[in-house]
This record gives sequence, structure tokens and C-alpha cells, in this order.
Amino acid sequence: MIEKQEQIVSMFNKIAPSYDLANRVLSFGVDKSWRREGCSLALQQYGREKISMIVDVACGTGDMMEFWSESCKKSEIEVDSILGIDPSVGMIEVGRQKFPQFEFKISTATETKLENESVDIVSISYGIRNVIERDQAFLEFFRILKKGGLLVILEFTRSESSSIISKIRDFYLSNILPFIGGLISKNKDAYQYLPNSIENFVSSEELINELEKTGFVLIENKSFSFGVSSLFIVRKDN
Ligand SMILES: C[S@@+](CC[C@H](N)C(=O)[O-])C[C@H]1O[C@@H](n2cnc3c(N)ncnc32)[C@H](O)[C@@H]1O
Repeated sequence: MIEKQEQIVSMFNKIAPSYDLANRVLSFGVDKSWRREGCSLALQQYGREKISMIVDVACGTGDMMEFWSESCKKSEIEVDSILGIDPSVGMIEVGRQKFPQFEFKISTATETKLENESVDIVSISYGIRNVIERDQAFLEFFRILKKGGLLVILEFTRSESSSIISKIRDFYLSNILPFIGGLISKNKDAYQYLPNSIENFVSSEELINELEKTGFVLIENKSFSFGVSSLFIVRKDN
């Protein structure tokens, strides 16, 4: 288990320099609108004018942190700190260069080293699929969130539909994405890992069950671009 997790992190270290370019090309830039909407819906749901801490777990090169910052500004919400955590030194290095205004820390989803009930919002975008001990990560998010705090997940969940759109998505993920991602990153294996990890991941319903079992309450589940990507917002009530 530990070995598999280490292999995943080492793969992200290798692709870190080309990660952003590959991301934008492979998603045609649409991921920006999914991220923007995730942040904006969560801030509306949270409904506070002042936030002490937002933590973006599996922050990679930090894009989601910029969306949090923008969304808070737009909604005139005062936020004291936006922290990004990730175990990949390579990804964090790119993030630190892009966003010197944010704080980054090397740690994992299962061991954030943050205080109990100290965080207003935890987000994890396209990251939870890479966390082997997902149940432990959900317990950790529950532990660090304040009462009333939100967990925001953006993810590619396993498709259970046999619709044409779903088949096109799966064809794109299995055939086109590894080819283009491989060319950009010069690491075909890393981009072959992506469709495999989605195929081996849970469906949206199963993910919601896991979150509810941890004690979270579902407040928003939305799919974007005909089910290509999904958003989950859950709350820690007590
Ligand atoms: C696909 S990238 C997503 C990066 C970023 N959140 C984004 O939206 O672009 C997945 C990230 O998960 C990180 N990761 C892998 N295992 C992890 C773990 N156990 N805990 C936290 N992050 C992890 C990787 O290092 C990588 O940066």
C-alpha cells in the first residue's frame, strides 16, 4: 500500500514541469469553469463574510488556490490564509514559483499535521483518486474541519452510464488522452495511469456513501460537462 502511494507521488514528481500545460490542453481549458463554480457554490453555502483558513489538499501546482482567492475577492469575503498541501516536492516547487503569495506544505491527505477543528474549508481537486487510504483521508478532513466546515471535492468518478457521451468520454480518456499527455510530458505511463485510476475509482454514489459514513452531510452534488467531472460539497455538522 505504502509502495503504491510512493509510486504515485514519484510519478507526479516526474511530470510536474509539464503538468499545467498538459492539464490545459487535455481539458481544453474547461477545468477552469468547473473549479470556479466549485469555489463559488461552496462560498455561497458557507455563507460567512470572514474565513480564517482554506486548505487545498493534493494542491499540486496550486491552481485551485488561485480560484479560492479570486472567488473570495469576488464575493467580498475576507480570508486570512489559503494553504496548499501535497506530498510531491516537484508539484509544490512549481506551485511556489507560480504563487509566491500562498503558503505550501509538504504533507499528505491522511496526515495534514493541522490542528483539530481549525479549518473552514478543505478542498481536494482531482486528488482523492490518488490517495490510497481514502477512508483515512476522509477521517483526517473531518478532524481538521470546524463544525459547519465544508469539504469540496472535484473528481472524475467512474462512469456507470452507457450513454453516448459517457462512451465518448471513456474513449477520449483511454485512447486520446494518454497519447497527447504522453507527448507533452514525455511520460506515457503517467497519462495511461489517469484512465486506469478513473476506471478503478468509485462511482459518484459510492463516494457519497463513503463521505456519509465518515459523518459528513451532503449538501451539493453536481456533474459538469455531461458527467465528465463531478463536484461534491459535504458539511461537518457536529
Ligand atoms: C492530478 S493532481 C491534482 C493537482 C491539483 N489539485 C489540480 O487540481 O490540478 C493529483 C495530486 O495529488 C497528489 N497526491 C498523491 N497522493 C497524495 C496523498 N496521499 N495525499 C495528498 N496528495 C496526494 C499528487 O502529488 C498530485 O499533486
